[in-house]
Amino acid sequence: MIFTCPGSRILIGITMSERKVYIETYGCQMNVNDTEVIFSILAEAGYDRTENIEEADVIMANTCSVRDNAEQRIWGRIDQFYGQKRLREGVLTGIVGCMAERLKDKLLESGRVDFVAGPDSYRSLPAMLSRISPGHPQINVELSREETYSDIKPVRIDKNGVSAFISIMRGCNNVCSYCVVPYTRGAERSRDPRTIQMEACDLFSRGYKEVTLLGQNVDSYLWKGVDGHPDVDFADLLSSVAEISPELRVRFSTSHPKDISDKVIETMAKYPNICRHIHLPVQSGSDVMLEKMRRRYTREWYLGRVSKIREVMPDCAITTDIIAGFCGETLEDHQDTLSVMREVGYDYAYMFQYSERPGTLAAKHYPDDIPPAEKTRRLNEIIALQNELSLESNRRDVGKTFRVLVEGPSRRDPADSCGRASNNKMCVFPATVSGGTVKAGDYVDVRVVSCTSATLICERV
Ligand code: SAH
Ligand code: SF4
Ligand code: F3S
Repeated sequence: MIFTCPGSRILIGITMSERKVYIETYGCQMNVNDTEVIFSILAEAGYDRTENIEEADVIMANTCSVRDNAEQRIWGRIDQFYGQKRLREGVLTGIVGCMAERLKDKLLESGRVDFVAGPDSYRSLPAMLSRISPGHPQINVELSREETYSDIKPVRIDKNGVSAFISIMRGCNNVCSYCVVPYTRGAERSRDPRTIQMEACDLFSRGYKEVTLLGQNVDSYLWKGVDGHPDVDFADLLSSVAEISPELRVRFSTSHPKDISDKVIETMAKYPNICRHIHLPVQSGSDVMLEKMRRRYTREWYLGRVSKIREVMPDCAITTDIIAGFCGETLEDHQDTLSVMREVGYDYAYMFQYSERPGTLAAKHYPDDIPPAEKTRRLNEIIALQNELSLESNRRDVGKTFRVLVEGPSRRDPADSCGRASNNKMCVFPATVSGGTVKAGDYVDVRVVSCTSATLICERV
């Protein structure tokens, strides 16, 4: 018996040839987790995952809009995907994620994609795929006030089965003037804490040793209690996940300097398995810029939060995001950024040139007036300083002993293994000592013997 159905090409008897789906993921960790959600939704509908674009029936990019260069890369990929369509009849291509949400039908106008799906519409993907026909692409870019995909068990795409992401909330209610995220991800909503705990427990029972709780602003996580149950805030959630097992490490990102509470900092200190690392984006060291960016804190407030963290957890790493060349940034503002970096002594930083995003408050109200070459010059100064700071930070760790969660073989030398210390620094150490070889997911104790600005070189203890 031969018959066809929308979820597969040809079904012969009961031997199904499943349709294969290939996803390229761009942007932040939340997008990585969303890709895992999409794989799960599509698996339910009979689609198999492939990492080989050439055998895929459905090809998509899960996209990022945070800076213009992120989007330009995707336009290039759309052309490549289109090449696959022309080579093989029946291949469907699509754009999902933040760029789908921002550009909507403009993506369809290119005539090169069959579907466009925003971050809150992934449940509709199987139906959308089955409705596509020549000349009839599908689009769903509706944002939701409720969707958290809390009942979906993500299909993990990490390579080693050690560390996984858990989205604890979606969207963002801040309106940082430069940022497109509130427009692409919609309003903030928190996920039921019981489903978060269950997901973490399930991962731990499957051998995972580390979970990273994700949100654009985790400090504003709030689950309203009903029927006499108390509210659950981020600190409560952290404790409940940390209590699953001392063998399960807990990380989180991103903290907002205006919202990170003493309760969160003190909760971290209480649990050795909550990792000693806070990603606390400063964006700029100048109060004038911070005001224009609508970050809603001052430099003084920010430094106060850093002091609190250091007072409670002297060994806690602090990392940051910085934007160079925001609208009207003077040389003095730029110097303020360099000086705040020195004052905090960041362990690591993600550094960007300001990229104007259409529709944001900054795009509407402030001219993007720093010439590109000057933005680059300032960014380079910031990067050079951070390289020094990272090296200094790593040198401070030489001689210290850390417990490391092994991720796998080191890329440079397969005789070495690598893994992260609680402070998120990458450690490299011999895989084998006195006959025993470590494997991904083991905890090992190491002593730092030397370093580069990126890595701690360690011996086993
Ligand atoms: N929710 C997180 C970060 C989200 S975007 C937070 O509030 O920190 C990640 C980083 O991208 C931001 O911290 C910022 O440094 C950078 N970024 C966002 N919009 C940008 C823009 N228009 N141009 C350059 N960098 C930008
Ligand atoms: Fe963007 Fe600000 Fe929200 Fe972060 S907190 S996602 S920078 S609007
Ligand atoms: Fe990019 Fe969207 Fe994340 S714009 S940074 S993928 S939330």
